[in-house]
Amino acid sequence: MSNRATSTTSKPPLYKIVMLGDSGVGKTSLVARLTNPDRPLNHDISATMGIEFDTQMLDTPHGKVKAQIWDTAGQERFARVLLPTYFRKAKGVILVYDVTNAKSFESLGERWMTQLNDHANSEDLAKLLVGNKCDLEGSREVTKEKAEMFCAEFGMEHLETSAKSGENVL
Ligand code: GTP
Repeated sequence: MSNRATSTTSKPPLYKIVMLGDSGVGKTSLVARLTNPDRPLNHDISATMGIEFDTQMLDTPHGKVKAQIWDTAGQERFARVLLPTYFRKAKGVILVYDVTNAKSFESLGERWMTQLNDHANSEDLAKLLVGNKCDLEGSREVTKEKAEMFCAEFGMEHLETSAKSGENVL
């Protein structure tokens, strides 16, 4: 009884979560699907130019959490100057690649993990690896095994998602 009273009156903690990954992997589409599950995939979506964020209440095993999800720009010219702002006070990072685009996966090791280590204390952040566009199985270029090896190296969990079908997003 007292637990219930506490949970209804106390404000859920706010967690800043940053989405990182090359331009076009589907970061904006994933945030849109998470915060608006009934909205169909928008194919005319334009490239993110700076910072956009949305908040979403999430149920976790430890109670409700308000996730502030930062959708960042994949394009180098925008991302470079904004990286310190992206990581400021962040609690978690979602590294996104496109399962049909091997280059977007290679970028994680070559570019995004370096940026993460340069601008944030990577060990203090919860990290998740997301392979998006898993609805396009016939065009797959990145195997699950390859992604799992990456996760083992950097200590993170792996998930394959589709912003198009909603698979593993909610
Ligand atoms: P930047 O803002 O430039 O960093 O790109 P982004 O990573 O936010 O990608 P965005 O969400 O703009 O998606 C790029 C394109 O991929 C769009 O045409 C989307 O409709 C498409 N797309 C995103 N997710 C999926 C998916 O799960 N499946 C399929 N088939 N297409 C997707």
